[in-house]
Amino acid sequence: MNVIIDAEFNPVPSLQQIAKVQLAKTAPNAAAVAVFVKSEGALPDALDLTREQLELAGFAGKKSDALLLPGETVKVLVGIGKGFKTAAEIRNAVACFTRNAAKFSELAVELDALTLDGVPAREAAQAAAEGALLARYAYEPLKNKQNLVALETLTLIGENSEAAAGAERGTILATADRLARDLGNTPPRHLNAYKFAEVAERVGPEYGLEVEVFGREEIIEMGLGGLLGVNAGSVQDPRLIKVSYRPEGATEHIGLVGKGIMYDSGGISLKPSNASHCSMKMDMMGAAAVFSAMTALKELGVKTRVTGFLMCTDNMPSGSATKLGDVLTMRNGKTVEVRNTDAEGRLVLGDGIALAAELEVDAIVDVATLTGAAMMALGTQTAAVFANNDTVAQQLQDAGKKSDETLWRLPLDLRLKKAMKSNVADFANIGANEGGAITAALFLNEFVAGTPWGHIDIAGPMESNSDDLWRSAGSTGYATRLLAEFAADFKKPSGDTVGTELE
Ligand code: BES
Ligand code: MN
Ligand code: ZN
Repeated sequence: MNVIIDAEFNPVPSLQQIAKVQLAKTAPNAAAVAVFVKSEGALPDALDLTREQLELAGFAGKKSDALLLPGETVKVLVGIGKGFKTAAEIRNAVACFTRNAAKFSELAVELDALTLDGVPAREAAQAAAEGALLARYAYEPLKNKQNLVALETLTLIGENSEAAAGAERGTILATADRLARDLGNTPPRHLNAYKFAEVAERVGPEYGLEVEVFGREEIIEMGLGGLLGVNAGSVQDPRLIKVSYRPEGATEHIGLVGKGIMYDSGGISLKPSNASHCSMKMDMMGAAAVFSAMTALKELGVKTRVTGFLMCTDNMPSGSATKLGDVLTMRNGKTVEVRNTDAEGRLVLGDGIALAAELEVDAIVDVATLTGAAMMALGTQTAAVFANNDTVAQQLQDAGKKSDETLWRLPLDLRLKKAMKSNVADFANIGANEGGAITAALFLNEFVAGTPWGHIDIAGPMESNSDDLWRSAGSTGYATRLLAEFAADFKKPSGDTVGTELE
């Protein structure tokens, strides 16, 4: 069954409003211009003020300090501490500028001010575009009164072809990120698996992607026991959404797999009725990140072939739901005893990873809002990464550095596997109480069939409680830009790939 509450509703309005990021010698129309100020040393020439005057106004030039100076063009002073040593600092500072200039739709930044301390023009411009477009984001299609003033133009004042290319890259990546945020922020009744598939089928081809959607009958034929087991309690059908990017002449191939739990109630292992579980509408952010990242590939000119598997269903309790003790047969033939229906992400991912492995891809990366344990361990700014191959882990961490979506590697500790033993099936879907993020990764490792693989657990950073630099309150779109950067730089993994058994 597929119940659609509001068939006309468009869950991804951000694709209709994409700001223009341009380079120009002057910006006569800019309503607000940024002035970046260090915490020490001479003030920029543009300011006719002293440090003492600024300090009296509460502005010390520390990171995130901001002060508006009225005028025909408003000057927004933004503190940058010791200066711009990294692209991440530029992204943050331009985000800070954009938030403090929230009333204006025409913004400008001097390009030279960004590259003063040695960040290359291309990276600086990319980070500036991302900072502005991501900071000026709010999800408001369900409000009667919209508060957000849309950003129309960000002008980078200067002349530099590298910077122009960077600005374009940043716009592409931020647009993908905003698409992921839209999908994450949409309430579960407005975005079920069926509707997600509809969006993918409509949007994907516009970005050079092939989209195939598989419904319940096909999923049964394909033997996706994990996806069906999680879906068993729901009145909404599941969807497997396969997304393909096939550039001509590709010699490498990546498989991406996203957890697409449209709402995670916990199933029979019901979560408590706690307001924090409103976040469980975002339990599809892995799938949203995979799909959204893929919309950037063609425009970025990525040479590697990429196939995405979005594993979509909600996880609900009902008379038909999977029971504790039930055994599911997964796509790769392995059997799983369900000891907790709230450990559902690994069940849908196992099938998706097995499908990717069958394509004999060079590497598989899965992204999932998988465990509270990862969030407890690393907090809300850093995602956990696991890998069976060091070069995959390194490529993912390098991509995360570029996008400032940092990954911290945790061990794939095979010694913890024995806690997943089952008397009736090959293994169970939960292990010991301790090391929950590791057990989840060990479960997924059973489906990679020796393929170099990385697993990103975004449970912590998937959401922000407040507007914070380039993160806006609500879904952060975390890992979208990271995956696109990863695909853009991808090299065939080398070195050892660990297996599933202790040697
Ligand atoms: N979707 C949750 C994990 C989660 C928690 C994501 C908080 C984002 C924020 C996942 O399906 C889940 O319920 N995991 C359980 C696993 C446990 C039952 C082994 C958890 O982490 O508690
Ligand atoms: Mn769960
Ligand atoms: Zn979940």
